[in-house]
Amino acid sequence: MDFSQIIADSTNNGAAPGRRWLITGCAGFIGSNLLQALLAADQQVTGLDNFATGHQRNLDEVKNLVSPEQWQRFNFIEGDIRNPEHCARAVTGADYVLHQAALGSVPRSLADPVTTNEVNISGFLNMLVAARDEGVKRFVYAASSSTYGDHPALPKVEANIGKPLSPYAITKYVNELYADVFSRSYGFHSIGLRYFNVFGPRQDPNGAYAAVIPKWTAAMIAGDKVVINGDGETSRDFCFVDNAVQANLRAALADIEQSEVFNVAVGDRTTLNELFRAIQTALASNGIAYPHCPEYADFRPGDVRHSQADVSKARLMLGYLPSHTINEGIAVAMPWYIAQPAQ
Ligand SMILES: NC(=O)c1ccc[n+]([C@@H]2O[C@H](COP(=O)([O-])OP(=O)(O)OC[C@H]3O[C@@H](n4cnc5c(N)ncnc54)[C@H](O)[C@@H]3O)[C@@H](O)[C@H]2O)c1
Repeated sequence: MDFSQIIADSTNNGAAPGRRWLITGCAGFIGSNLLQALLAADQQVTGLDNFATGHQRNLDEVKNLVSPEQWQRFNFIEGDIRNPEHCARAVTGADYVLHQAALGSVPRSLADPVTTNEVNISGFLNMLVAARDEGVKRFVYAASSSTYGDHPALPKVEANIGKPLSPYAITKYVNELYADVFSRSYGFHSIGLRYFNVFGPRQDPNGAYAAVIPKWTAAMIAGDKVVINGDGETSRDFCFVDNAVQANLRAALADIEQSEVFNVAVGDRTTLNELFRAIQTALASNGIAYPHCPEYADFRPGDVRHSQADVSKARLMLGYLPSHTINEGIAVAMPWYIAQPAQ
């Protein structure tokens, strides 16, 4: 998708050209996709990352996808959001902050809640303070659908949340609380984007905490077994990364004078059994057969049973319209998955 038009449209609303962006977590999956979109739109971008879960190879890939002139507009700072000085340095001169840096994964947070808390809460607060002190025009941050916790209603609407089911979910909810308090106490407004299971190129297929789509796809390409946690009827609103990029740009440039949170997804629901078949079908259309059935294991602690977003708030207030369904996203991402070296 060409994101330049979203930026070009906003210049008609009085936003000056030559704006400067800061992406935290720019070496990660979503961060590097934001980087690619902004550089391709000729924007000036600073990136901050400590490579905790991100990779130099993601930055190298973006470098190969943009022109040398566009790449020259990128300034990378290797640093840690737990360090307030790193945050202050990175945000200097920024108009817009897209804060993605965090430790994702529910199981990781159950294994090590302290580090998840330090990065996702203290690091977030450091970035919020730095952005407020710099007087940036807009702070957009990665919130999470995990904030809906045990609330049973479907689809999920922003105002109705339940109790968090994991340390990770707590951290993402605390982000929203801080954003709200900064809005009321300091008049510093920010926008939280509650992502629902984002997937696409550069999402890490490796490691114990890999997300389901890259993990299963890599396993199926290698002919390895696929393990479904639970009965396979657990469902998610899988969101192709271009939808998340679109939401970030629209949120950054929106004419909104208060803090808000928005669901970012498609508004569909896919079970894990259906997901398995969708990946199997997409691989087959790329000439890769996976003739095996999945295996079933115990449910994972901390996992929400069903998830599906109501995206009407983002549509109404941001003009957000998802460009890709799950199957369209899987079709776009599949050549990238297939091109990855086997582990
Ligand atoms: N991918 C999803 O489905 C999803 C869903 C909901 C929310 N989110 C949130 O979106 C954001 C991006 O997620 P992602 O999927 O791209 O994950 P990712 O792990 O690929 O990216 C996170 C990036 O943050 C960096 N980082 C981690 N700790 C840091 C620190 N202390 N200082 C500086 N950088 C640090 C990592 O190195 C990595 O590059 C995260 O905040 C995550 O919680 C993602």
